[in-house]
Amino acid sequence: MARHSFARPSGQQASYQTRVEILETRTRAAHHPGVLVRTANIDDQAFIAAIAGDVFSPYGDYRELLPQWFHTAGVMTFVSQSEQERTGYVMLAFFPEERALVGDVLAIAVAPGHQGKGIGRMLMQHVVTVCEQIAEHTPVRAVRLSVADTNLRAQRLFLSFGFRQLEGDFGRYDGGQKALHLERPLP
Ligand SMILES: CC(C)(COP(=O)(O)OP(=O)(O)OC[C@H]1O[C@@H](n2cnc3c(N)ncnc32)[C@H](O)[C@@H]1OP(=O)(O)O)[C@@H](O)C(=O)NCCC(=O)NCCS
Repeated sequence: MARHSFARPSGQQASYQTRVEILETRTRAAHHPGVLVRTANIDDQAFIAAIAGDVFSPYGDYRELLPQWFHTAGVMTFVSQSEQERTGYVMLAFFPEERALVGDVLAIAVAPGHQGKGIGRMLMQHVVTVCEQIAEHTPVRAVRLSVADTNLRAQRLFLSFGFRQLEGDFGRYDGGQKALHLERPLP
C-alpha cells in the first residue's frame, strides 16, 4: 500500500494526476457462478473500512485511510460479492511513468471468513484484465504493487499472476515489515 498503500509505504505518495475512467466493469468466474466482482459505490465505504481494520492492522492503521483512497480521483475500487454479501475488494490507480502509465494495485483484501476460496484470485484477475483493457488504447507499461516480506500468502498469489520482485529498498510499513515491490510487465 502507499504511505499507506501496499504499493507505496511511508513517504512515497503516488501521483494520481492521470484520470482513467472505468464506469462499470463486472467479472463473473465460470467456477464461481455466484460470485460477482463489480465497481464499488458509496454504499461499500463502511465495508471497505471494516475489512481494512481487520486484515491490514499488522501493517499500520488503514481503517481511515482506505476510505480516503476510495474517494480519491483516479482510484478505482472493485468489490467482490456473493449473493448479497460483500466478500472483498481491490483498489487500482494509474500513475504516469516515462510517457506511459503504470497500474498500481493499492490494496487487495478478502474478508477473513471468505479467504482461501478463490476470491483473491478473482479480484486480481479483474484488475489485471482492467489494465489489459486500458492498455488496448493507452500505453500501460506494467502493473505494480507492494507487499510485506512476511506476507507469504499474498506473495504466492501475486507470483502466480506473473508478478516478479523488483530490486531495491522500498522502505517499511508502519508495522515494521519490509516492503517488497512486485511488477508484472504488460505486453
Ligand atoms: C491475500 C488475499 C487477498 C488472498 O485472497 P484469498 O481469497 O484468500 O486467496 P485465494 O483463495 O484466491 O487463493 C489465491 C492464492 O493465494 C495463495 N493462498 C491462499 N490461501 C493460502 C494459504 N492458506 N497459504 C498459502 N497460500 C495461500 C495461493 O497461492 C492461492 O492460489 P491457489 O489456490 O492456486 O493455491 C487474502 O488472503 C487477504 O485478504 N489477506 C489479508 C490482506 C492481505 O494480505 N492483502 C495483500 C496485501 S499486499
